[in-house]
Amino acid sequence: MSELNSAVVTALQPGAASVGRLVVIGLGLIGGSFAKGLRARGVCREVVGVDLDPESCRLAVELGVVDRCEGNLAVACRGADVIQLAVPILAMEKLLGELARLDLGNAVLTDVGSAKGNVVRAARRAFGGLPSRFVPGHPIAGSEQSGVEAANGELFRRHKVILTPQEGTDPAAVALIDGLWRALEADVEHMQVEHHDQVLAATSHLPHLLAFGLVDSLAKRSENLEIFRYAAGGFRDFTRIAGSDPVMWHDIFLANREAVLHTLDLFRDDLDALRDAVDAGDGHQLLGVFTRARVAREHFSKILARRAYVDAMHSNDDLIFLANPGGTLSGRIRVPGDKSISHRSIMLGSLATGTTEVEGFLEGEDALATLQAFRDMGVVIEGPHHGRVTIHGVGLHGLKAPAGPLYMGNSGTSMRLLSGLLAGQPFDVTLTGDASLSKRPMNRVAKPLREMGAVIETGPEGRPPLSIKGGQRLTGMHYDMPMASAQVKSCLLLAGLYAAGETSVTEPAPTRDHTERMLRGFGYSVQTEGATASLSSGGALSATRIEVPADISSAAFFLVAGSIARDSELVLEHVGINPTRTGVIDILRLMGGDITLENQREVGGEPVADLRVRSASLKGIDIPEDLVPLAIDEFPVLFVAAACASGRTVLRGAEELRVKESDRIQVMADGLLALGIQCEPTPDGIIIEGGQLGGGEVVSHGDHRIAMSFSVASLRASAPIRIHDCANVATSFPNFLALAAQVGIRVSEEGKS
Ligand code: S3P
Repeated sequence: MSELNSAVVTALQPGAASVGRLVVIGLGLIGGSFAKGLRARGVCREVVGVDLDPESCRLAVELGVVDRCEGNLAVACRGADVIQLAVPILAMEKLLGELARLDLGNAVLTDVGSAKGNVVRAARRAFGGLPSRFVPGHPIAGSEQSGVEAANGELFRRHKVILTPQEGTDPAAVALIDGLWRALEADVEHMQVEHHDQVLAATSHLPHLLAFGLVDSLAKRSENLEIFRYAAGGFRDFTRIAGSDPVMWHDIFLANREAVLHTLDLFRDDLDALRDAVDAGDGHQLLGVFTRARVAREHFSKILARRAYVDAMHSNDDLIFLANPGGTLSGRIRVPGDKSISHRSIMLGSLATGTTEVEGFLEGEDALATLQAFRDMGVVIEGPHHGRVTIHGVGLHGLKAPAGPLYMGNSGTSMRLLSGLLAGQPFDVTLTGDASLSKRPMNRVAKPLREMGAVIETGPEGRPPLSIKGGQRLTGMHYDMPMASAQVKSCLLLAGLYAAGETSVTEPAPTRDHTERMLRGFGYSVQTEGATASLSSGGALSATRIEVPADISSAAFFLVAGSIARDSELVLEHVGINPTRTGVIDILRLMGGDITLENQREVGGEPVADLRVRSASLKGIDIPEDLVPLAIDEFPVLFVAAACASGRTVLRGAEELRVKESDRIQVMADGLLALGIQCEPTPDGIIIEGGQLGGGEVVSHGDHRIAMSFSVASLRASAPIRIHDCANVATSFPNFLALAAQVGIRVSEEGKS
């Protein structure tokens, strides 16, 4: 690598002419767009084009794609800094052979071929080994048009470009090519050659083969030419790519033969299975394929909607809620379904024999992560559609190994409960999560599961990912939980379904008992004696109907909102009031809140009621420690109540709050301080002095409940509150903004009010 090139990589600034001469060989759409974009940005001192077609050369100069064209390859390349090979992929070998005979000096070679193994092999043959200054590349971009006349300097903006450097490739050469693509505003990634070719074979080459093949297969039977007249949008959409350039695609299939054959064989097996299912009238199999495909396609559309080819999981868009001060609340609303019960309905419904119908299911991202995990393990699940889900249970021993890691998103409940259930399966599985979940402690489940015989590895310091080894013999045991955690209790009970003998768990304080209740609802015997829940393996779950009540943890935002807003009265319908969850009502009442329970009834083993809340003048209290586990998720919004109360509120014994979706003690303290409320975080709680909330900027740190709590705070604020990082509200309460607006809270997405 020349000093020249190592110097230029540090400063590929538009307009800075950091590269001397760029030579682009092949002035088609891709080569032309590369040349034109860099030339327009002034990144190169000179852009020289080479093409066998004189007309393309003439047009390239005329359209400002290049500074000049050169007929002689050797002359063009002498003294070049970068040589871009943009010829059709099957012409690459001949071109590389010619280049190998020239003195290329310090030039860095790169290419745009859409199969990389083939180009790398050709370069090896031509140069007798891969030149260290050759950086293979592939921009994933295109257009319906072709030729230099379609060249577009913006073609690669926000499109992926994959570079496949080899072990011996000069890092400075890689950095230089990387910098050129970035100057064109492309998203550059590096990948192994084989991986690139497999990925492209699956996502691009196979679909083209199918489209060409299907259209030909239908068209060549002459009677079918007639039926095209009846083809509607579906056929047109599916076969659009059969209109692509046949010569180019012929080249690609020949160049990427192995990878295409591999994906084609896999697809042929799946197609045979579909054929068999149609033949056998196996609707269950068809439904399985179609429901899985539909979600996969929806997921894909979301990725595309945000930004072409960008990984949705790494999006760093900051969704801001703007909450305007004041407001009086009124109305009747039903908040979405209970998150804890929704998770469990999918888990137990999947492990049951028969078909379980769920109503009121929470269509939030956390519960959907659980749903997707079971789909990935072969369970056919219809919906959710307006809260209705149909689960075709596979029985306790019917789960199948998923094809890859199970992604749990933001959901601690999914990861902890599933770890217990999966410890008893015959297959290996890995559980991963988003940035917030990846920081949360998992040893609280991994440690007792290991004592039962499970083999589990965690990431550093007991954090996700969790790798669970299948085929282990679990043994039931008794466990005294060191912390009051329903997730740990549920995890061990679910592992107990697969462990020899009895599994029992004693909790230091009562925690939510939805797992125990729902297991009984599925006909599985669970004993509860005092603080201990136990079960034995060997039973079976039979499908049932589940009606999920509205989530008291979501209702809590409106219980506090209705209490602190002036002259307000609000009814929250059909809220679950399981006694292990009602701490928020007790605490608000102790503070002077006016909440009444109406129309109490029991639905599917869970008590529910309509909750009426009226404005009240709240006063600060010492929160009784025994209420902490019963209101564990509601503290962020209870802190807002405390900020609006007269006097001091003290919380102790709540260190668990520090390991939720965020450190809820610190994050709430930071936000309240920013809004002018005096408060002091302590290791296991907080002291809050009631006062006047001001306006300002607060950060939710990706924690849904923090975002919603500060939205509620606006009701008593003296100025607007801007709340950062609110996208995760969708994990538990997807329609929060709509319901908040409906009852009179003035919060909306910034820019969309
Ligand atoms: C949950 C239990 C609680 C709670 C979480 C849901 C459950 O966690 O905070 O939102 O569904 O079991 P811990 O059991 O860790 O306290």
